[in-house]
Amino acid sequence: MTSPISTEKHGHVLIISSNNPPVNSLGHAVREGLVKGIEEAEADEGVAAVVIIGEGQTFFAGADISEFGTPKAFAPPMLPQVVDIIENCSKPVVAAIHGTALGGGLEVALACHYRVAVPSAKLGVPEVKLGLLPGAGGTQRLPRVAGVQKALEMTTSGTPIGAKEACDIGLVDRLYPEHLLQHAVAYATEVAEVRPLPRSSERQDKIAEADPAVFDEFIKSNPRTFKGFEAPMKNLEAVRVATQKPYAEGVLEERKLFMELMSGTQAKAQQYFFFAERKASKIDGIPEDTKPREIKRVGVIGAGTMGGGISMNFLSAGIPVTIVEMNQDALDRGTGVMLKNYQASAAKGKLTAEQVGQAMGLLKPTLNFDDLAECDLIIEAVFEQMDIKKDIFGRLDKVAKPGAILASNTSYLNIDEIASATSRPQDVLGLHFFSPANIMKLLEVVRGAKTAPDVLVTAMALAKKIRKVAVVAGVCYGFIGNRMLIPRQTEATKLLLEGATPAQIDKVHVDFGMPMGPFQMADLAGVDIGWHRDPTRIENIRDALCAVDRWGQKKGAGFYDYDEKRRPSPSPKVQEIIDDFRAKAGVTPREITDQEIMERTLYTMVNEGAKILEEGMAQRASDIDVVWVYGYGWPVYRGGPMFWADTEGAAKIVEGLRRQEERMGSDFSFSKLLLDKAEKAEKFTAR
Ligand code: 3HC
Repeated sequence: MTSPISTEKHGHVLIISSNNPPVNSLGHAVREGLVKGIEEAEADEGVAAVVIIGEGQTFFAGADISEFGTPKAFAPPMLPQVVDIIENCSKPVVAAIHGTALGGGLEVALACHYRVAVPSAKLGVPEVKLGLLPGAGGTQRLPRVAGVQKALEMTTSGTPIGAKEACDIGLVDRLYPEHLLQHAVAYATEVAEVRPLPRSSERQDKIAEADPAVFDEFIKSNPRTFKGFEAPMKNLEAVRVATQKPYAEGVLEERKLFMELMSGTQAKAQQYFFFAERKASKIDGIPEDTKPREIKRVGVIGAGTMGGGISMNFLSAGIPVTIVEMNQDALDRGTGVMLKNYQASAAKGKLTAEQVGQAMGLLKPTLNFDDLAECDLIIEAVFEQMDIKKDIFGRLDKVAKPGAILASNTSYLNIDEIASATSRPQDVLGLHFFSPANIMKLLEVVRGAKTAPDVLVTAMALAKKIRKVAVVAGVCYGFIGNRMLIPRQTEATKLLLEGATPAQIDKVHVDFGMPMGPFQMADLAGVDIGWHRDPTRIENIRDALCAVDRWGQKKGAGFYDYDEKRRPSPSPKVQEIIDDFRAKAGVTPREITDQEIMERTLYTMVNEGAKILEEGMAQRASDIDVVWVYGYGWPVYRGGPMFWADTEGAAKIVEGLRRQEERMGSDFSFSKLLLDKAEKAEKFTAR
């Protein structure tokens, strides 16, 4: 097999190039090639300096994650050895960086004696996002080069920095807007005689000045970074070691912490999720050469919260939007909210005033439905009612140009029935955005029975363009995400009657790692969503709350009471309503354990996920996990509901559900697939 690493001499400079597409990950062959390259430089008297560069789109984007857990990951030379060999080279080594220098890639760059980059390059240590820490000297070299505070920020967040900032803090020595290789070679020639060589591991200046209090301060001021996740604290500990011990001891400590993380469940979950997210964009059963349709202008029907949020995605990506409303007031209100949202982002420094102007300049607000004729994709975001949606799609069928894609933002309704109102069901699909639509990363792409392959491919490509993570779902009530909410909500509400409180149930979910529990979520979204709006018709606790105006946070009262700062507290009034219902139903309250809450609200979700899979409503278990992590804040360190089910074991889930079966009654039935997995001791997910 040919090596991905090649070498070439330019005068006295040896260029070591890596060609390992798509991202030049540091797999075994690359590591081996790098060491050979350095050995070649050492052996050749005609070589005075070395340049390491990536071919294609990028410098090294890190270790090869697909090798993790396989013998290849441990095959020598391992990355910690490789970086030491580079740093110990007796001739100057220059890293020439374009694209991304991430994780092990930045560790290679840090081991080089000099770093030059193009201004668009990004440098970072995203290992924390994989449940890890930089394990090839990065936690020891980065603080020595970039300073302790920056190293803490970069290692615990995993967010890369731009090359310009890297240059300001001394992580990059020179920036070259173009002709990177030529400049790197010239720079290597310039520094060829410099001795002693500047070795990152030997630097003391930036760590000597570090205040030991910085670590506790950092923990205190970033509580969310550390909540639930194991890796951020270990990253911090490793950086702390760099300030306390010499490099040689520090790297041993780093390795120990790295191995502890690597063998844990969180790292496995986060690495699984890395590939799950990328797999989600692949659609089964569609020829690979299917071409997407061209989308030059998007139409949005409805300028409410959803319509406005959806429009902002396209405007921000530079795609013009025609937004239609029924009356001027609603249109003005909708566009006003969009402008306010953009201005709020500008006030936080996320956008410039010019960018706000550009985005809003691409918006065409109109009352004329016929204006949608100019659009290549039209997304309906109106009231969630089948007859209204069908009426709109019937009208769209007459107005839209041939080949235009017609999408509904419905969160529950049947896309095939909506499509039946048109003469072109092949052009119809669901695009279910999550609220707030301009922020949430998830997009459920609902594939109707007749949706054409190129329509699906267009939706997936467009999702990427507007920076969403898209998952394909089949037509069923609530698709993937909301469908799994149903058993959770049903059992949570029944548990209230049986003796639990909203706060107890929510706490189980928050302790599990969810951003909020079922009742906190209901209060945030609006308890009145889907309510029949008749205050005299009271059939359940929700009806009773809505009838007394307890619609959630927007009314200052829902399952909880809220103060003026929207801080929740348990509500005596809600307890009264629950007690009243309980008495009427003749239920004697009993003590509910957290275990029971878990089994009836989380295990039931797994069971529903398994049903979704067995019905083919999701393509793969990992797609369900992507929906729950990006749409509902399922803790990524638990991988998602199906990965979590695998870590619990299907047999344990079945056992827990059997314990609760009688209490759940006719609301519950077992998924055959779940039973099957339990019996065969199989997993839902596989990497
Ligand atoms: N290892 C293996 N495969 C990788 C990879 C990696 N480090 N990074 C990306 N890939 C694969 C992806 O799975 C994808 O494969 P596919 O086409 O078969 O789905 C392909 O490369 C392209 O990736 P993206 O779709 O993500 O491409 P983008 O252009 O959107 O993003 C990127 C490129 C910013 C480099 C992004 O892929 C990324 O963030 N990669 C991960 C970087 C990372 O985490 N590095 C640290 C690794 S851990 C480490 O280095 C440990 C060390 O400290 C010892």
